[in-house]
Amino acid sequence: MRVVRTVAELREALRDAPRPVGLVPTMGAFHEGHLSLIRAAREENETVVVSLFVNPAQFGPSEDFGAYPRDEERDAAQAEAEGVDVLFAPPVDEVYPDGFDTTVEVGGLTDTLEGDPAHRGAEHFRGVTTVVTKLFNMAQPDRAYFGQKDAQQALVIRRLVRDLNIPVEIRVCPTIREESGLALSSRNAYLSAEERERAAAISRGLRAAEETVRAGERDAAKVLAAARAELDAAQIDPEYLELRSADDLSPVERVNGSTLLAVAARVGRARLIDNTMLGGT
Ligand code: PAF
Repeated sequence: MRVVRTVAELREALRDAPRPVGLVPTMGAFHEGHLSLIRAAREENETVVVSLFVNPAQFGPSEDFGAYPRDEERDAAQAEAEGVDVLFAPPVDEVYPDGFDTTVEVGGLTDTLEGDPAHRGAEHFRGVTTVVTKLFNMAQPDRAYFGQKDAQQALVIRRLVRDLNIPVEIRVCPTIREESGLALSSRNAYLSAEERERAAAISRGLRAAEETVRAGERDAAKVLAAARAELDAAQIDPEYLELRSADDLSPVERVNGSTLLAVAARVGRARLIDNTMLGGT
């Protein structure tokens, strides 16, 4: 595995690399979720590139950019063990050199849920879409891999590549969970043992909603009530718990076709998100 830190080195490493090239964009602190993306990329491509960059542009001023878990040595060892060909770990000034002054913004999908000003705000997605566009231009992959846990991010990135005709196939891989149901996240590192147990109620809420829909209920308020009961029992007050169209994130009154149930909640100092797809694919 080659570890490269500049765009010039990355391009040089990929110049004669066999295609297809799969890119797994990450912010490091690998867990099984990242490894599942890397494994999918390894299976489907001749060359696998993993980027490791904690992107300051997607963190708000009151967010955890400074505290975000970082362990490049461990990540590199795991990437190597998974058969990654190139690890691209640029410093901040390689991605955002002096005078950097361009952003890429996807409208509509980015001012709700995570992008609601009361939560992370649209600037969060502007940071994501700007860096992802740059990574696509830097690595020019044939495929790129993202996790379903960040369902809104995946939708926004699909819209980005469609709207800007970026020639990359977006692959979205299932959320990986602990035995308790807790979705794996680098931010789980902030949870105490007691908080970790409480946090499992988030996925129990999603499962309760799925059960309710399986039993024939379609009314959004009732489906949400089933999820909320699990959160209440664990004294988790979500920032949002919403049923939205899985195509355009518009609010729905009934579970109809493919509907996204998305939740964000703070447990201790961790802000956690999770979701499930109801009533369809
Ligand atoms: O999902 C993430 O880890 C980040 O948002 C991404 C896609 C690597 C962009 O920084």
